[in-house]
Amino acid sequence: LRAECPVHHDKQFGRYFLTNGKDIEAVLRNRALLLDPDRANQGTIAKLQTQREGFIKSMLFLDDPDHHRLRSLVAQAFSQRSINDISLHIAQVANELLDALEGRDRFDAIAAYASPLPIIIIAEILGVDPADRADFIAWSRTSDNAFNPMLTAEQQEAMLRSQNELFDYFERQIAERRLSPRDDLISAMIAAADGDHRLSDQEIKVTCNLLLVAGNITTTDLIGNAIRLLIDHPDQRQLLHERPDLAANMVEEVLRFDPPVTASSRIAPEDMTVGATLIPKGEVMFTALQSVGRDPELNPDAQRFDITRDKPVHHAFGGGVHFCLGAQLARMEARIAIPLLFERFPNLSLAAEPVRKIAPGFNGYGELLVNV
Ligand code: HEM
Repeated sequence: LRAECPVHHDKQFGRYFLTNGKDIEAVLRNRALLLDPDRANQGTIAKLQTQREGFIKSMLFLDDPDHHRLRSLVAQAFSQRSINDISLHIAQVANELLDALEGRDRFDAIAAYASPLPIIIIAEILGVDPADRADFIAWSRTSDNAFNPMLTAEQQEAMLRSQNELFDYFERQIAERRLSPRDDLISAMIAAADGDHRLSDQEIKVTCNLLLVAGNITTTDLIGNAIRLLIDHPDQRQLLHERPDLAANMVEEVLRFDPPVTASSRIAPEDMTVGATLIPKGEVMFTALQSVGRDPELNPDAQRFDITRDKPVHHAFGGGVHFCLGAQLARMEARIAIPLLFERFPNLSLAAEPVRKIAPGFNGYGELLVNV
């Protein structure tokens, strides 16, 4: 598509798919474009969600001025937590998960490592009590299913029940911290202020949920995709072993080569052109983030996975005003967790064909069985 039809109009879905790296960069940077699904011409999954009774949109579905107000207050709280302080703790949690695998011949690298790590870290950042950790992991995992279009009615019901329990839990935590603040992200969100603006309880609750949904599946996929790529490329794995200083670059290369989020969307506020194509007002454009990293105009020899690549170009974290708020945290988790896994189990190999996850818009594994 990128070579032959970089702006493809899918008439059946009524959407425009953008695959050219430079077009995508320009669209993501364009501050005039919209994200609120209620402003699109046709319904989308997100639009249906926003029509649910009592649904409040997270910042991901808001446009300015609401987006700016919400994002700057949350960003204030997020940076106050000083993400850098958490690096030692990430290593500690990763090592605990690895300790639990000692003595096993094989394990599922997603269920045992890539999935619990980001959930535990965000739980601790938010301030989830260690006693509630097991419940929290269970709720987070069921919520991941929100993106699976193949759920049975029973599974859907279980997912909604779990989401409600999680929301009730956040409500109780917010109420507790309004009475006695602690040193955690929920308290920091309560305290965040910009002039007279403060975050409401509803906004904090929806943001907590967004941090889980936007942060956990994606970071799990990043770690899982990296494990698979390094198993498939033993020369690169050996290089990482010899040169641990390449860890950060390795993470960028995985984000370029096999990014966790395949697409983001934007809505045209007025008639506009992308390349030579007219996009009418209110139409939705999908920017194929996956395609950016493989665009040979942006990355020479783009089909080669090379952890020494000089500044891999990608938009794995989106771009513009909605650029991922957790990019620094995700990068740090992956940079620490992936080398630790291969140091502990240097002979890791695939034990079965990895199983892809069913979640439109996301790119990762549901199961990655490995031999030790
Ligand atoms: C937004 C990717 C991890 C929080 C985004 C967007 C992308 C993305 C592509 C922009 C969506 C758009 O423009 O439509 C990723 C990837 C991650 C990751 C690939 C891991 C490898 C995280 C983490 C957190 C997080 C760990 C927080 C704990 C957010 C938030 C937004 C966002 C709050 C919304 C920002 C806004 O609308 O202003 N992420 N993300 N993400 N991400 Fe991430």
